[in-house]
Amino acid sequence: MSTSTPVKVAVIYYSATGTIATLAKEIADTAEKAGAEVRLRRVRELAPQSAIDSNPAWAANARETSDIPEAAPDDIDWADAAILGTPTRYGNVTSQLKQYLDALGPLWAEGRLADKVYSGFTSSSTAHGGQESTLLALYNSAHHFGGIIVPPGYTDASKFEDGNPYGTSHVDAQGQKPVDGTALKAARVQAERVVLMTRALKAGLAEQ
Ligand SMILES: Cc1cc2nc3c(=O)[nH]c(=O)nc-3n(C[C@H](O)[C@H](O)[C@H](O)COP(=O)(O)O)c2cc1C
Repeated sequence: MSTSTPVKVAVIYYSATGTIATLAKEIADTAEKAGAEVRLRRVRELAPQSAIDSNPAWAANARETSDIPEAAPDDIDWADAAILGTPTRYGNVTSQLKQYLDALGPLWAEGRLADKVYSGFTSSSTAHGGQESTLLALYNSAHHFGGIIVPPGYTDASKFEDGNPYGTSHVDAQGQKPVDGTALKAARVQAERVVLMTRALKAGLAEQ
């Protein structure tokens, strides 16, 4: 496999109080270090300003990430791999990230979402709080896209520590536990694996 095969990765996420934003940045940085061209994008906020203002962590995250461009359909169209991040909402994907995915209908209809790599990451307040169901729900869309889902599995010894083969995840204990070294390591493992697998897929397809 040619290590010079260029790989484009879009890290597209929603984060209210900053947990997913922290993981997204680690994933984006790692993918870049692994040689990919990266777009880090946050999806559009749908909550009213009054809800954001009522939660200091939410307001702070909105402020601190305002320089990150808002995700557009073109970002996923451009990418060879999309790494998608969402907090767990009742064991499911947030409406904000889902709205982004729902707006991709025209690209889906043209078959432009197929043959890309997809991978996901999440966080929750509690252990067993729905992280795996959230990632599996997220991956439903990738099946419809005709995507190649690349989960981390237990492909690195560290995965036996964080324990989530479906994707990077973190338990934030209602904001009391910021993203830690275990979750950051999982983020790096996942990002490196996505770049490696995307490069292999692209190089292989080019030879067909
Ligand atoms: C409406 C709502 C629903 C949530 N549902 C769950 C849940 O099902 N399980 C859980 O453990 N945490 C749940 N949480 C907590 C968030 O998933 C968790 O705090 C997450 O880490 C926040 O990520 P962020 O800081 O990137 O916004 C919920 C939070 C909200 C606001």
